[in-house]
Order: sequence, then structure tokens, then C-alpha cells
Amino acid sequence: MSKSVIVVGAQWGDEGKGKVIDLLTKNCDAVVRFQGGHNAGHTLVIDGNKTVLHLIPSGIFNDVDCIIANGVVLHIPTLFEEIKSLESKGIEFINKLHLSSLCPLILPSHIALDEARENALGNQAIGTTGRGIGPAYEDKVARRAIHLMDLLDEELFKDKLNSLMNYHNFLLTNLYKVNPINEQEVADQWLSFADTIEPYVKDTTQYLDSLIKNNSNILYEGAQGALLDIDHGTYPFVTSSNTTAGAASTGTGIGPRQFNSVLGIIKAYTTRVGSGPFPTELNDNIGEHIAKVGVEFGATTGRPRRCGWFDAVAARKSIINNSISHLCITKLDVLDDLDEILIAIEYEIEEETYTTYPAVSLSKLNKCKPRYKRYKGWNQSTAGITDFDKLPDEAKDYIAAIQSMLHTKVSMISTGPDRADIIIMDELFS
Ligand code: GDP
Ligand code: IMO
Ligand code: MG
Repeated sequence: MSKSVIVVGAQWGDEGKGKVIDLLTKNCDAVVRFQGGHNAGHTLVIDGNKTVLHLIPSGIFNDVDCIIANGVVLHIPTLFEEIKSLESKGIEFINKLHLSSLCPLILPSHIALDEARENALGNQAIGTTGRGIGPAYEDKVARRAIHLMDLLDEELFKDKLNSLMNYHNFLLTNLYKVNPINEQEVADQWLSFADTIEPYVKDTTQYLDSLIKNNSNILYEGAQGALLDIDHGTYPFVTSSNTTAGAASTGTGIGPRQFNSVLGIIKAYTTRVGSGPFPTELNDNIGEHIAKVGVEFGATTGRPRRCGWFDAVAARKSIINNSISHLCITKLDVLDDLDEILIAIEYEIEEETYTTYPAVSLSKLNKCKPRYKRYKGWNQSTAGITDFDKLPDEAKDYIAAIQSMLHTKVSMISTGPDRADIIIMDELFS
């Protein structure tokens, strides 16, 4: 029987999805990106060799189909750069990479608009990755998007590009008072991609359906994290796609009954890049220690990530929004040297108590006081442990606490960046 597993980030992104997806791929036939774009930065470390992927699915180092489905906004220059760099490592793409003909394209003017909007927001800026993600999704919803398949019809592409760029350049020059983007240059560059990209373009929904009917195991690779979801995240400090598990269905065209389980990837603490609420943030030497040991710098932009304690209140919302059936706790080893570790179990806002992340205004949320439970640290190395029984008792207690607070089974624990640094309690594809 074909099995389909959705993997999502359960916090604000960078939970270690890439690492876990790469190692789960050994039991799969296909890995599918279904939302987001090259704002993602998924890190794989295999036998000490590090690769950061932005668009190519994290299963690429295995003999599987890698699919970029319709929910992804596609920046072709980044895709080509990634292909070239992976080809130099011996990866072949023909018959392995499949691109949905329905992916909306990210153009230089989307990137210029992203930058102009952020600049205009001043100190209210979202802190986007500057990749044009928001403007590209805006155009999709506004029914102006240029799809990948349009690039394969030169006249149609030029027509659509002309009306889209007229609109973008109007905004850039009149509203934001910045330079326009040269339409002819974009047309020439993008049309020059057409022949190279054509062999990869197909109806990925039909392709996935045929894999499912052929009893294949399929892994759906989420990007970003649940709390960055456009509907359910910490709006407006979110990305512009649905990052929660439901997007695996809409972002591929495969209906919801096909999915068997949802694996939530969650750090043993919390991080966030960019602006926005972060109730358990640590602006002290413990936060600095976590950032240093966890090497918490953005895999896409290199920005320092904000660090804080594990937030069970936010995580409970994530469990609900994604219907997470299994959890993988990552970066346990980063907490190795702490004497005491805290978990936020409730928020108090204006004398009201919340056990799941509250749907309240940002100004109210700014008054949030997390209530913590304290756990004894283990003060010894867990780095590279692969056997649950070898974990220190305090680390086992910490994992058990998270499991019981979230009422969700912890099926995997990651103890280092390398593919091999993993404790597996349940096999998701068995
Ligand atoms: P993603 O976006 O969810 O794929 O995560 P990123 O790749 O952006 O960030 C995760 C970072 O943590 C990367 O540098 C990984 O190599 C690293 N990492 C993943 N799992 C572990 C772990 O268990 N321990 C440690 N120390 N590092 C890890
Ligand atoms: P992965 O897949 C962490 C954040 C940005 C910003 C907000 C909006 O590696 O976990 P955008 O460019 O998407 O419009 O930015 O979302 N963000 C991420 N944070 N990990 C990511 O991806 C992110 N992708 C976007 O920092 O706060
Ligand atoms: Mg990342």
C-alpha cells in the first residue's frame, strides 16, 4: 500500500526539516515541495558534507523522484543555480526532477516590490527574505500570475509579461519612487530558460496520482513553519503561503484522503528569523549560548536567528493546525550544557490564562507573560546519540514532558546535524 507522509515545521521555520526529510527519503519513492519558494533554506549534512537547498526537494541525494508542485512559487535562476551546483556533486536531474506546469513564476519585479514594500514599512518591516515571495503570491491570488507553462508559449508569455510588468513598474515608480525593471531584459532572460526547463515541466498532479496508484511511498516536504502560515500564523509577521499540512493537498492537487500521517519537526527550543511576536524569546546570555551552540544563522539570508525556550502553548496550536500525528524533536544536543531548561506551559495576558496560542491582537499579545515549568539540565553530551536508552535521564524526562504536554507521540529525536545523528522510535513508512 502506498503511504503518504507530510512533514511540516511546527514552529517559525528552520526546525531541521531538510535533515529529517533527507533521512526519511530512504523509505520513499518521491519527495514533493508543495508551498513556499526559495525563501526556504533546508540544510542536509551527509557524512560531514553540507548542502543547503532552497527549491530542490531534500530527497535529491537519494534515488527518488523530486517534484516541485503547483503550490511553489518558482524563481528559475535560483533553480538553475541549484541544479548546476548539485550536478557538480554528481546528481542527475533528467527523469528525476519534475516541475508543475502550474507553478507561478517569481520575476525580478516581484523581488524589487518585496524590497520596496519592506523599505516603505520602515521599523514595521516584516523582515522578509527579500526573495519576492509575497508579491508573487499576491499576483497568484489576484489572477495575474504567469505560470511555468506560459513560458513555453513565447507570444503568450510576452503578452502576460507586458501587462504584469506594466502593473509592477507603475507601483515601483509611482508608489515606491524606485527604478522600474526593464521588461525587455526580463523577457529575453526568461525566454532563454524555456528550452532548458521544458523537459522537466509536466502535470505533476497526474504524475503523483500515477505514483500513488503504483503503491509508491511519498513524502511531502513543507517549508517554513506553522506559525508563519498566512492564515494561522502570527499575522502580519508571516510568509505569504499556507505552511500548514493542508497545503500539501492544495499545493499538489492530491485530495486529503490520500495522506496517512503528519510529522511535525520541532526544535527542543524555539527560534525565529525576522520580526514578529516571540513570547519565549531570550535576550540574555542563555539566548546567546543557544544561538552559538545551535549555530542559529538563517540558511537563506545568513541573518542571526532569535532564540528562546520551548513554547508548548505555540506548539499546541501547531499540533491542531497541522493535525500532527508524530513529532521529531531536533537539536536536543544544543541544550547539553544548560543547568536548567524551561518550557512555557501557559500564557497570561491581562489576567487571562491561555494554554494554546491565542487569537488576539498584536498589542494584546505584546502583554503576554509566559508561565514556565523548570527542568533539570543533563550537563553531558547527547551529540550523535542514536539509541534512546543512551540518553541521560534528565533528557528523557524533558522529551517525556514535551510528549505529554502536546499529547503527541515523539517518534524521532535528532542529536546533531548529520544524517546519522538520529534516534528513531517509530518508522513512519513501515
Ligand atoms: P530547515 O529549514 O527546517 O530545514 O532547517 P535549517 O536547515 O534552516 O536549520 C537547521 C540547522 O540546524 C541546520 O544548520 C542543520 O544542519 C542543523 N541541525 C539539524 N538538526 C540538528 C540537530 O539535531 N542538532 C544540531 N546541533 N544541529 C542540527
Ligand atoms: P525554512 O523552510 C525561517 C520568514 C522570514 C520573515 C517571514 C516572511 O528554511 O524553514 P518571506 O520572505 O517568506 O516573505 O518572509 O517569514 N521565513 C522563514 N523563517 N525559515 C524559513 O524557511 C523562512 N521562510 C520565510 O524570515 O520573517
Ligand atoms: Mg531553514
